[in-house]
Amino acid sequence: MNYIPFCSVEVEFSNMQGLHDLINNCDASKRTLVVCDAFTTDIWGITDDIKRGIAAGHLAWVDKCPGNPTQQDILDALDRVGDLKPQQILAIGGGSTIDLAKAVSAFYYMYFGRKVSLEEITAALKEKAYTQPHQFIDIIAVPSAAGTGSEVTRFATIWDVNKVSKFSIDCQENYAKKNVVIPELTLTLPARLTLSTGLDALCHASEAFWAKPTNYLVKDIALRAIDLIMTNLPKVLKDPKNLELRTAMCRGALLAGLAFAKTRTTACHSISYPITMQYGVEHGLACALSLDAVSKINREKTVLANELFAVYEKHGGLRKWLDDTCGEIVKLRLGALGVPKDGVDEIVKGTFTKGRMDNNPVDISPEQVKEILLSVY
Ligand SMILES: [Fe+2]
Repeated sequence: MNYIPFCSVEVEFSNMQGLHDLINNCDASKRTLVVCDAFTTDIWGITDDIKRGIAAGHLAWVDKCPGNPTQQDILDALDRVGDLKPQQILAIGGGSTIDLAKAVSAFYYMYFGRKVSLEEITAALKEKAYTQPHQFIDIIAVPSAAGTGSEVTRFATIWDVNKVSKFSIDCQENYAKKNVVIPELTLTLPARLTLSTGLDALCHASEAFWAKPTNYLVKDIALRAIDLIMTNLPKVLKDPKNLELRTAMCRGALLAGLAFAKTRTTACHSISYPITMQYGVEHGLACALSLDAVSKINREKTVLANELFAVYEKHGGLRKWLDDTCGEIVKLRLGALGVPKDGVDEIVKGTFTKGRMDNNPVDISPEQVKEILLSVY
């Protein structure tokens, strides 16, 4: 019997004390690499813990984790790690930080002891050279936003430094060993980041529901995720210091992550990539732009679509909920997000990412993508 566990990642809900303990009680016999942006360690009060571990000699630190990491960011991180030979990585931060940690895990021992060029790592990403047998580094992921899902998936998104394509590191070894959820970390998220990451999670759950490889278990998990997010995102934007609401968002994002970890994403994510790459629109907003239109296109070919749309309707319908939830923070329209109308044709050309657009239950043509984009201009 071929048994594949639903989720190979050990998941634990914890709190800030748990985070201090995690850093301070790192197994001293293992060299642990902390991947966490220095900008945020002060906010979370963990800088001293990290510095103590570094002084004791069993911790090292990648302290620069830019948003939307590129091939160059991977090379910089590998340079920073040098010849430390870490045995585990503690990745604390948003999706970009966890994705960078996954890239370090995938490439560190593959390239150990030699300088790698931008061209070489680009080719390795394209050709999935990291799937050749070699040592990966165990990751403990501590997400700081309720959205990405990277902590429970085998994917890491790497953005082309030349803004031509988007790469995905995608392999079984890239699952984190453990995911520690600390809702308190999300208490300081600004409104726009809370919104964009929450919408990313809503897209993960919705797209998992209708993706080609979906199943009943995925659908049930996705429905619960959608309900949690649609109930709690508008509330948490009005009451950002409410830990109960923040915890509910973390639960929703986690379930959404588990759902799309089994299916990968579909048209909404595929359409979003050039919008983010060419115009810097936040990932979650770029994905949510087409969510309503794509849901309607997919309805006919989606098993149990009525259950999905019943949840959307329970919250006033998807389009209205999206506009109301974005409210004063941002207008969820291409033009308002800084995309010129004459840039739409160029965006359309970049929306057909292999493994994402063809993972959509209904084939969508370039003309339809243009229609979708103009409908949300
Ligand atoms: Fe996403």
